Amino acid sequence: MRDSQESCPAEPPVHVAIIMDGNGRWAKARGLPRTAGHKKGVEAVRRTVEAARELGVGYLTIFSFSSENWRRPEEEVSDLMGLLRFYLRSEIAELHKAGIRLRVIGERPRLSPDIVRLIENAEELTAGNTTMTLVVALSYGSRQEIVLAARRLAEEARAGRLDPESIDEDALTGRLFTADIPDPDLIIRTSGEQRLSNFLLWQSAYAEFVFTDTLWPDFTKRDLEAAIEEFHRRERRFGATTAGSR
Ligand code: IPE
Ligand code: IPE
Ligand code: MG
Repeated sequence: MRDSQESCPAEPPVHVAIIMDGNGRWAKARGLPRTAGHKKGVEAVRRTVEAARELGVGYLTIFSFSSENWRRPEEEVSDLMGLLRFYLRSEIAELHKAGIRLRVIGERPRLSPDIVRLIENAEELTAGNTTMTLVVALSYGSRQEIVLAARRLAEEARAGRLDPESIDEDALTGRLFTADIPDPDLIIRTSGEQRLSNFLLWQSAYAEFVFTDTLWPDFTKRDLEAAIEEFHRRERRFGATTAGSR
C-alpha cells in the first residue's frame, strides 16, 4: 500500500546549515597539530558540498570561522586564513563547473583585502549558478549581524527613508547578511557539542537541530544522509497544533 516511499523519497530540506566542529580534537587524538585537523576539515567540506548537491539540497551553509574565533592564537588564525585562501583559489573553478553559487556572509571588513578580493571574484563568477547555493559563514557572528541590521534600520529612519512604525520582522530579515537566503530547515553540529555558538540566531527560530558525535574531519555523505533522515522523522509544527490532533 505504501510502497510509494521507495519510488518517491521525501524532499530534501531546502536549507541545511552545518556548524563544523571538532577539527582540533580530531588532530589531538592523533598527536597532530591543530592545523592538521583544519586541513582534514577542508577535505570534509569538499565531500559535504558534493554530497549536499547530489542529495538535492538547495542551500548549504557552513560555519567556517566565527567572529569569536579571532580570539584564537595568532598562529591558528593565520593557518585558518591560509587554508581559506587555498580553498578559494583551488575550488572555485570546480564549484562553478558544478553549477554552485557561492555566497559569503560575515564581517568582511575584518578580513584581509586579498581574501575579500578572492571572495568578490568568486561571488561574481558564480552569481548566475542555480544547482545549489553554498553559503560560507566567515568572520560571522549572529549578534553582530543583528546589531548591524538594527543600525541600518536606525540610519534609514534618521534619514527619513523609513517610518519606525513600519519596522516588522521582514524589515529586519531584509537587512541581515542572509537577506535573500531562506531560513535553515536543518542545523547540524558535529563533535558532540550542543550549542549554537552565535550562529544564525534569528534565522534558526524554527530550525530542526541534529547533533552528532562525529568530528568534522570524519564527516561523510552517510552522516549527512543520516541527519536528513532524522530531519524527516521530525514533525515541524511552527506553533500550530499537532497534525491529526483535531
Ligand atoms: C572547528 O574545529 C573549526 C573552527 C572553529 C575554525 P575547532 O578548531 O573548533 O576544533 P575543536 O572544537 O577544538 O575540536
Ligand atoms: C563554532 O565552533 C564556530 C565554527 C564552527 C566556525 P567553536 O569551536 O568556535 O565554538 P565554541 O567555542 O566551542 O562554542
Ligand atoms: Mg570547536
